[in-house]
Amino acid sequence: MPPIRRIGVLTGGGDAPGLNAVIRAVVKAAANGGIETVGIEDSFDGLLEMDRSRVLTPRDVTGILRLGGTILGTLNTGNPLTSEIQTSDGPRRYADRVLEIYRRLELDALVAIGGDGTLAISHEFCQMGMPIVCVPKTIDNDIVGTTNCFGFDTAVAFATDAIDRLHTTAEAHKRILVVEVMGRYAGWIALYAGVAGGADAILIPEIPFDIALVAQRLRDRDKWGAKFSIVVVAEGAYPMGGTMSLVEAAHGRTAERLGGIGAQVCEALHGETGKETRSVVLGHLQRGGAPTSFDRVLATRFGGKSVELVQRGEFGTMVAFAPPDIIARRIDDVVGKTKTVPMDFDLVMTAKSLGVTFGD
Ligand code: F6P
Repeated sequence: MPPIRRIGVLTGGGDAPGLNAVIRAVVKAAANGGIETVGIEDSFDGLLEMDRSRVLTPRDVTGILRLGGTILGTLNTGNPLTSEIQTSDGPRRYADRVLEIYRRLELDALVAIGGDGTLAISHEFCQMGMPIVCVPKTIDNDIVGTTNCFGFDTAVAFATDAIDRLHTTAEAHKRILVVEVMGRYAGWIALYAGVAGGADAILIPEIPFDIALVAQRLRDRDKWGAKFSIVVVAEGAYPMGGTMSLVEAAHGRTAERLGGIGAQVCEALHGETGKETRSVVLGHLQRGGAPTSFDRVLATRFGGKSVELVQRGEFGTMVAFAPPDIIARRIDDVVGKTKTVPMDFDLVMTAKSLGVTFGD
């Protein structure tokens, strides 16, 4: 294996608290191993021109451990590989141009930090001969092969705090409060924050819900004397026989945008129960702010492990959390799959045994 002297690092997909912690760990671990790191801006788009990247020294990443966002910028758009683009050297095919700039930057390997989209793009570039190690990222926690992605714990902590705040106002007004959280195809955030926040109903994409059953559960609470209720809804949840609620359909490189199910559930519950209902969308607040200590540690471990894999020449891999260890998995084993909440997951069963309804 040729010696590794210079690597690139990039962040792709929607941001998640902990991206900067990974970048910092990569730069510091690489520097201490005699490897220079080049930070590439705006995901793989940063490899379309020579001036969209910069050398990152340990000094450049000092103090970013606790910062949300990403110092490199990111893009949450579809797979651009086959598209034709304009460059400073004329029109090119996207993938050819990325490979060209990668070579001109004299990089020996790449660490790509991102979600399912970035994994898919990385997988294709690996097959074209680019040596890549991936670091999984998503607050939705739906990447196969890793128990946790950094960002998930931070999102759950934020959503739990929001639910706690909504509890007091819901109780004061004897209202139903509906909280819409992120989670396109998997209900991990809704499930964990819902249980941690003591929600009475948790609606997730894996379990199409019957609003009448949800309403029944809330009416039962009224009978016991608990005149308020908290309902947590994942953005990708949908009623039995219905479809996911979109605010924008997919077009070009832009993925479909979800949203609106919280308001729909709110209105439907008002109709079913006659109670005052209000809804709140937590949205991108869940992706902002400082990562929790758990996410900082996980992100740091992922970053350190990714450099170790680069040094060992283990490319086409993704670092993963298999408690208590950080391990390597083959990208082709995880790409194109979604880790959804299993129906027999103990947390679902326990929540149900405590009386939480999933609307099924
Ligand atoms: O994939 C993470 C996620 O936070 C989803 O839960 C959400 O649907 C999506 O990103 C929103 O992406 P954007 O910021 O591009 O609207």
